[in-house]
Amino acid sequence: MRNLSVARRLGTALLLSCLAGAPLAAETFTERVTPCLACHGDKGQSDAPEVPSLGGQPAPYLLIQLYLFREKQRVVEIMNDATATFTDDDLRRFSDFIAALPPPQPPSDGAGDARLERGRTLITQHRCNSCHGLDLAGRDSIPLIAAQREDYLVKSLREYKSNARPGYDPAMASVMAPVDDAQIRDLAFAIARFR
Ligand code: HEC
Ligand code: HEC
Repeated sequence: MRNLSVARRLGTALLLSCLAGAPLAAETFTERVTPCLACHGDKGQSDAPEVPSLGGQPAPYLLIQLYLFREKQRVVEIMNDATATFTDDDLRRFSDFIAALPPPQPPSDGAGDARLERGRTLITQHRCNSCHGLDLAGRDSIPLIAAQREDYLVKSLREYKSNARPGYDPAMASVMAPVDDAQIRDLAFAIARFR
C-alpha cells in the first residue's frame, strides 16, 4: 500500500513537472539568479565586504567580466565556479538582468574629510573621468565606479597595479603604475562617496 502511494505521488510529480514545461525556463532563471543577488544585493547594492555592487553596470562590461570569469582569465574562485557551466546565452541573460538593477547610492558620511578633496584631485590628475565619464557612470565596456564599495575599489585598484587582475584591456595597469597605495586609498574613499 505504502509503495503504491509513493508511486502515485511520484507519478503526480512527474505529471506536474511536464505540465509546467513552458514556464519552467523563467522559473529556473529566477532560481539561478537568487544566489547571485544574495551575495551582491538584490537591489543593486552590496552589503558584503569586498563583494561589488552590480546595479547600473553597463551590460557590455558585465558580459565581458562574466566571460573572463568563465574562462578563468579573471581569477576569483567563487565567480569562476558560479559561471563555469554558463552558455553564451546565459552570459547575455545574466548581464542584461543585472544591468537593469538600480545603481548603488553613496554613503552620506565623509563631508569635510581631507581624503575627499585629495581623491577628487587624483581623479582629475589621472584622467579617470576621461574613460569612466565625468559622472564616473561608465559606458559600454567601461564600468560604473561611482558609489562602488570602498573596500572593493581598494582591492581592484591594487590588483590592476600588481597585474593580479590584467583586465580584458590593459588600460588600468598603465593608469595605476604611477599611483601609490596612499593615493589608492584616497581615490577609493572619494569614488565610493562620489555623487
Ligand atoms: C558567494 C558570493 C558570490 C556569489 C554567490 C556570486 N558572486 Fe559575483 N562576485 C563575488 C565577489 C567576491 C566578486 C569580486 C571578485 C573580485 O574581488 O574581483 C564578484 C564579482 C562579480 C562580478 C564583477 C563585478 C565587477 O564590478 O567587475 C560580476 C559581474 C558578478 N560577480 C556577477 C555574479 C553573478 C551573475 C552571480 C550568480 C551567477 C554571482 N556573481 C554570484 C561574490 C559572489
Ligand atoms: C584609458 C581608459 C581608462 C582610464 C584613464 C581609467 N580607467 Fe578604470 N577602467 C577602464 C577599463 C577599460 C576598465 C575595465 C578593465 C577590465 O576588464 O578589468 C576599468 C576598470 C576600472 C575599475 C574596476 C571596476 C570594477 O567594477 O571592477 C576601477 C575601480 C577603475 N577602473 C578605476 C579607475 C580609476 C580610479 C582611474 C583613474 C586613476 C581609472 N579607472 C582610469 C578604463 C580606464
